[in-house]
Amino acid sequence: MKTAEPIKLHLACGTNVVKGKGWTNVDNNSDHNIKKGQLDLDWDLRKPLPYKDDSVDKIFHEHFIEHLPKAQGEAFLHDCYRVLEPGGSMRIGWPDTAKMIRAYVTHNKKYFNYVSKHVDGGMLFGTWDELLVDFLYSWQHRYGYTRKHLKQLLLHIGFKDAKYKKYRQSDYGFDIDARNDPATTYIEVIK
Ligand SMILES: C[S@@+](CC[C@H](N)C(=O)[O-])C[C@H]1O[C@@H](n2cnc3c(N)ncnc32)[C@H](O)[C@@H]1O
Repeated sequence: MKTAEPIKLHLACGTNVVKGKGWTNVDNNSDHNIKKGQLDLDWDLRKPLPYKDDSVDKIFHEHFIEHLPKAQGEAFLHDCYRVLEPGGSMRIGWPDTAKMIRAYVTHNKKYFNYVSKHVDGGMLFGTWDELLVDFLYSWQHRYGYTRKHLKQLLLHIGFKDAKYKKYRQSDYGFDIDARNDPATTYIEVIK
């Protein structure tokens, strides 16, 4: 008898569509940069995921949660919890506000050089104070999470065993991180 393949959701995949590893690549192409036919599911993640309770094996998303306003972000994470099966895992990567603040306080050059290249519209003065505010308002971000805050929220929702992880280091076999940069933090949790 054929057993069903585990469901693995790569949410808000953007152009980082992963083929051949069993991932369902989901996005609503709001940045209009994903080629036609690349997505496995065109879906607005402000709506509940089209999956049954306790039916999904793995969920991965990076550089997405901060694109939702606070309440929508919380609702989205609740829905991730709903669809995950008990023991299922989720990995999140996001631009960690705590890393920005630490870099601001210590004037971390590597951090500055990386983030300053990516702020919307470029920088006028190239100062740390400009970068701090550009970080908060660039890239159509609607909210920000320090690592402690996101961990607290995930545990509050019911996830367990929250662990911060390095790029491509995973307890659950996640191997599709695309963000090996000084701004990103990864966290893993299970249901
Ligand atoms: C900063 S990009 C990150 C893409 C990819 N994960 C990466 O790290 O390169 C944010 C992605 O979220 C998607 N997105 C934003 N709002 C969305 C929504 N409401 N529903 C589905 N996708 C959304 C955008 O289309 C975009 O591809």
